[in-house]
Amino acid sequence: MSFITAFALAFEPMRRLAKLNNTLQMGLGCADRVFEMMDMEPTIKDRADAKALHAAQPEIRFEHVSFSYQDAETPALRGVSLSIPAGKVTALVGPSGGGKSTIMNMIPRFYDVSEGRVLIDGVDLRDLSLQSLRRNIAMVSQDIAIFDDSARANIAYGRADATEEEIIAAARAAEADDFIRAMPDGYDTKLGEDGVKLSGGQRQRIAIARAILRNAPILLLDEATSALDTGAEQAIQKSFSELQKGRTTLVIAHRLSTVQNADQIIVLDQGQVAEQGRHEDLIALGGLYARMYRAGLKE
Ligand SMILES: Nc1ncnc2c1ncn2[C@@H]1O[C@H](COP(=O)(O)OP(=O)(O)O)[C@@H](O)[C@H]1O
Ligand SMILES: [Mg+2]
Repeated sequence: MSFITAFALAFEPMRRLAKLNNTLQMGLGCADRVFEMMDMEPTIKDRADAKALHAAQPEIRFEHVSFSYQDAETPALRGVSLSIPAGKVTALVGPSGGGKSTIMNMIPRFYDVSEGRVLIDGVDLRDLSLQSLRRNIAMVSQDIAIFDDSARANIAYGRADATEEEIIAAARAAEADDFIRAMPDGYDTKLGEDGVKLSGGQRQRIAIARAILRNAPILLLDEATSALDTGAEQAIQKSFSELQKGRTTLVIAHRLSTVQNADQIIVLDQGQVAEQGRHEDLIALGGLYARMYRAGLKE
């Protein structure tokens, strides 16, 4: 009797031991891949003599920039020259695939140019330290990363010193405060893979709060409000105009109505600058922008 009982009791631990081995093997397999990744040389890195960027109101210039993605047949940018003046709002518009996001992604050096150069205050980006460059940039990109962490930590990401008041103020300005408070643990609610899944619009509002909190002199917005309904978008637009004051802003807008007030509009088509000017100028020109604007108004 005791032998059978002992055997029955031993069965479950044995089974767990076998499962443990499974987990262990899987972990080892993953670790291999992680170490492989860690051993890879980054293609974008600091020069030995990289300088730090100190710019209160940076001016950004593209000079004859061409760029091809790896394995792409046609270049994404072809001889793009443009100037993004300090402290002003520049809007990028154009058909999808025209190269708008590519231009924006070159500023934090997610990619380096194939030809030409990108300058901030006259200094080639490649001569600046990545850390100092990116510290000066707040960005809401087309694909937003939400981390496996609390709502609070997700907003404070990139500003470890932010106070609770600052975090909540940023969330309010981004219209995120209400939905965060409605979640089970408020600002302590875990987001991301193991936590609450956010809708596209909620992700964008977290990213906008992050950008507001970051308080950087360069602001990059890539279709930052594309997943929001008109009401939420209009509410955030107010925060954006506040945020853009005195900052060098580059905005890619899906709704032409939001670019109307930009200081400068650059129209990109097939990797090239097609038109450039203010809203009224481009409407008068009667080209691509004017056509897009009419189509946008019909929506
Ligand atoms: N990661 C990538 N790898 C390869 N090709 C890409 C990548 N991202 C964009 N492209 C291509 O580069 C071109 C410009 O894309 P993009 O800058 O995203 O345009 P937009 O933002 O104006 O819609 C497109 O032809 C697109 O297919
Ligand atoms: Mg894009």
